[in-house]
Amino acid sequence: MPKKLIEQAKEKFGIIVEEQLQRVEQMKKGSTAVEYSKISPMIVGVCFGDGIGEVISKHARHVLEHVLKDEVAAGKIRFKDIAGLTIENRVKHQKAIPDDVLKQIKSCHVILKGPTTTPQAGDQWPNIESANVAMRRHLDLFANVRPVKIPREGIDWCFFRENTEGAYVLGSKGINVSDDLSIDFTVGTEQGAERIIRMAFEYAKANQITRVTVVTKSNVIKTTDGRFSQVAFRLAKEYPMIKLDEWYIDIMTAKLLDPIRRKDFKVIVLPNLYGDILTDEAAQLQGGVGTAGSANIGNRWAMFEAIHGSAPRMVKEGRAQYADPCSMIRAGAMLLRHIGYKELAAKVEMALEVCGQFEKKMVITGRDTGVTGEEYTNYVLSWVDHPGLKSRWETEVYGLK
Ligand code: IPM
Ligand code: MG
Repeated sequence: MPKKLIEQAKEKFGIIVEEQLQRVEQMKKGSTAVEYSKISPMIVGVCFGDGIGEVISKHARHVLEHVLKDEVAAGKIRFKDIAGLTIENRVKHQKAIPDDVLKQIKSCHVILKGPTTTPQAGDQWPNIESANVAMRRHLDLFANVRPVKIPREGIDWCFFRENTEGAYVLGSKGINVSDDLSIDFTVGTEQGAERIIRMAFEYAKANQITRVTVVTKSNVIKTTDGRFSQVAFRLAKEYPMIKLDEWYIDIMTAKLLDPIRRKDFKVIVLPNLYGDILTDEAAQLQGGVGTAGSANIGNRWAMFEAIHGSAPRMVKEGRAQYADPCSMIRAGAMLLRHIGYKELAAKVEMALEVCGQFEKKMVITGRDTGVTGEEYTNYVLSWVDHPGLKSRWETEVYGLK
């Protein structure tokens, strides 16, 4: 009996190894990043998602359409609404992303994506894979870039979370060896580590940042985290102006709460799961997960989303219209910057910061004690269009004057 179980487990493991080796071969072939300036019309796909996703994605799309109205009128940019990335439709097709939805997504250049519900043990949904994780894999969106800024404290962090391997890539492919034994896998590759760590170094170099921090648990997870850390130190040699330091995830989690030391971190690069956890903590320090956006970047496609989930509880309690749209609006700003509209992106970000960190004329509380997402979006837009936006932001938010 145990022998049969062992054979079955070995067979499953064999398939996993084969698939991962194929992925490595694919990465070795490499691909070059698209040049957005050469694309016209640029197709911006919008997937609305589940729960509050539907509401806040509409607000973010409204902001993008507002700031891009001239480009849309000139035919340079086209918005494409993509239906069907809902939990109901995914369950109907028994797929994390139904084929026709994936085809539509792939026909776009960049995607704005609302939060989608991820089935979990014990809920009403069958155990299909997370749509986020599937999209990151299908589009090979290897870099999850998550900036967090708290200007008045001098905090300006940019997290580079590895997005296609680690504990996630086989998250739905663990093996229940027997009634008593379950095994999950975490995967690390030379190519996967190199491409995200290089992106972090290149970002530091382009922004005159002289420090990159790699976060692992390589003292315990010696093989995969060990590789991640080794790749970081190998690449650091190519960037002599940048100092690389390594922190373990446990103490790093503590250090983000240390008001004296935390502002010294700048660029942080880390494997998938640690990146998931640490960026929620960082976003909370900035004002809540509702304030943070997330860029999922690959060479061919890029997808921009909120860092939080679809908040089914808010919908159930009838509070969806009070959901904070700032995370999705911020994701929209990241999309703008990624496709080359840096000034428009800066305007939207400055407006978000003036509204949320300084003026606070309207407050979002997630319930009827605050304003609705629509009212808040219009508040942000009033600042986007305000001639005094930049000077107000410099004086009040950044304290530059
Ligand atoms: C995120 C989310 C996802 C993740 C979930 C929804 C699968 O938490 O984007 O951080 O774990 O990556
Ligand atoms: Mg997360």
